[in-house]
Amino acid sequence: IEKRVDDLLSRMTLEEKILQLNQYTMGRNNNVNNIGEEVKKVPAEIGSLIYYDTNPTLRNNVQKKAMEESRLGIPIIFGYDAIHGFRTVYPISLGQACSWNPELVEKACAVTAQEARMSGVDWTFSPMIDVARDPRWGRVAEGYGEDPYTNGVFAAASVRGYQGDDMSAEDRIAACLKHYIGYGASEAGRDYVYTEISRQTLWDTYLLPYEMGVKAGAATLMSSFNDIPGSANHYTMTEILKERWGHDGFIVSDWGAIEQLKNQGLAANKKEAAVYAFNAGLEMDMMSHAYDRHMKELVEEGKITMAQVDESVRRVLRVKFRLGLFERPYTPVTSEKERFFRPQSMDIAAQLAAESMVLLKNENQILPLTDKKKIAVVGPMAKNGWDLLGSWCGHGKDTDVVMLYNGMATEFVGKAELRYALGCRTQADNRKGFEEALEAARWSDVVVLCLGEMMTWSGENASRSSIALPQIQEELAKELKKVGKPIVLVLVNGRPLELNRLEPISDAILEIWQPGVNGALPMAGILSGRINPSGKLAMTFPYSNGQIPIYYNRRKSGRGHQGFYKDITSDPLYPFGHGLSYTEFKYGVVTLSASKVKRGEKLSAEVTVTNTGKRDGLETVHWFISDPYCSITRPVKELKYFEKQSIKAGETKIFRFDIDLERDLGFVDGNGKRFLEAGEYYIQVKDQKVKIELTD
Ligand code: GLC
Repeated sequence: IEKRVDDLLSRMTLEEKILQLNQYTMGRNNNVNNIGEEVKKVPAEIGSLIYYDTNPTLRNNVQKKAMEESRLGIPIIFGYDAIHGFRTVYPISLGQACSWNPELVEKACAVTAQEARMSGVDWTFSPMIDVARDPRWGRVAEGYGEDPYTNGVFAAASVRGYQGDDMSAEDRIAACLKHYIGYGASEAGRDYVYTEISRQTLWDTYLLPYEMGVKAGAATLMSSFNDIPGSANHYTMTEILKERWGHDGFIVSDWGAIEQLKNQGLAANKKEAAVYAFNAGLEMDMMSHAYDRHMKELVEEGKITMAQVDESVRRVLRVKFRLGLFERPYTPVTSEKERFFRPQSMDIAAQLAAESMVLLKNENQILPLTDKKKIAVVGPMAKNGWDLLGSWCGHGKDTDVVMLYNGMATEFVGKAELRYALGCRTQADNRKGFEEALEAARWSDVVVLCLGEMMTWSGENASRSSIALPQIQEELAKELKKVGKPIVLVLVNGRPLELNRLEPISDAILEIWQPGVNGALPMAGILSGRINPSGKLAMTFPYSNGQIPIYYNRRKSGRGHQGFYKDITSDPLYPFGHGLSYTEFKYGVVTLSASKVKRGEKLSAEVTVTNTGKRDGLETVHWFISDPYCSITRPVKELKYFEKQSIKAGETKIFRFDIDLERDLGFVDGNGKRFLEAGEYYIQVKDQKVKIELTD
């Protein structure tokens, strides 16, 4: 490939090189937040296009122009936001993280790749791996929660799923780690704003997921909107990504992010913005029209060099060759039936939805509903398709979604009678549906109350000052409570919610996130007991807005016994890792292969887990470490490994953590230098803390 890249590059004119470094949108733009001039005439030499169609015909026509009407016939690479599915829509990524099942997420990404590539898309702008600790920010829905290591594991799983071993295959696509970097630190959860990130935090919190994604072979990255600045940051885009990590693909800007350097007060105009971004190491301009309009004169003025242009074009061509676009520039035309909703894809959707769901509360074992004959299914999410898809739902359609009520009807056929009532709309402040809901509750043995958020309330440009559900939904719950029947609260949402008023009203709470096309049956299966829930939270649920930001891997307080809020608790309502099961898992004593260890030696930890309940289940063991004394203060604990296993009733399984001292006990400083200090460390599993003495 390198020979072919160099050969092709040597034959290109400056104009042809510059167009390879540009991406335009094509056709309708389904991301309402991206206002951009629709490109009427696509030049045959354009490097990349965002593709909004669901079949390859349009792509093949445009590609034909590129192949036959341009001088060198360099194929276009078509990109698209397939974030959690292309047409078969899976749970939102924040939900997927709660499955703690990277193998399953990899399978889901492989299906996304198959559907996208066969529809004319070669490249997805996914996975989004922005560590996020402020649920007011709508984009928490798109990533894998508050923990750096968790985001890194799912980054690698997604890259493997999208790209496979050879991304030139007809069912693979290029991945794109985004948004590089630190976008999740958006102040107060407001989107597109300043992010205050120290070098130390940059390294110990935000960079790890990208390092793991790059190591997994991610072909591309996308630069971020936020001002650290994300899209003109030589330190992150060149020194770290290229010089330290040796990334040999390319970075595409986020939509208009180069031009936005003006708004952020860095550049006076687009031409200056182009210089800043390009010299920082940003190869491709998504829709700023900064590179296409100014790069030629910038080379002529010597503000950027031809060598830099060549290196950038080399990177873009390299990815195109690796995708096999020169051999196969066109996508075979297939039927929708061949492309979408393959049976195994729907099974994966159901399994991933099931494993993403988190049982937050189950008072007096009200669940599973084995003895209930009359079930009222109430609320704005009960007969709702669209909102179950979640933000960034690709080409998902509301008609593709199995609605929760229908899932219940299927699951409980012959077991219980259902009665539906809307109760209230998602936010409209009117109570005219209350009476019907109260009537259904009076009739019932149990109320399944399906509440939640509209899909537009999370995702991009969807910040909310409050993470509580609308007042009307809480009022409906309060009125239903007065009827005196048990209430099972089912939540459909894209972010952690403020539940401190709904929690006392609900006998059980099942968090199903936005579960995609096939979440209804898994949800009903959990309520019926057919499925044993196994999800655990990958992001903290605050007790209330006032606690935000609140996350598990916080630094230690100087006075851990005081300094708490005087008006509310300082504990979250549901902490990171929380999730109930229908069975009981008894943990043995954590054992270490040694309690004293020297640098470079091997160390492993083990714990047995016994399923002491009556039914089979899946259990995830989270392995944390803590370092009480370190030359750079560290979080109270840090997740370093997790493993999920199925454990049958009465069975015992061994969970083992092979510790790499540098990687797992070491820390990183503000220059990215990893270090490992002698001293004491602890391995933590649930409430056990086992000491390790590291000597030089
Ligand atoms: C958007 C998003 C980014 C997406 C891109 C293309 O503004 O920030 O995540 O991939 O533009 O739609």
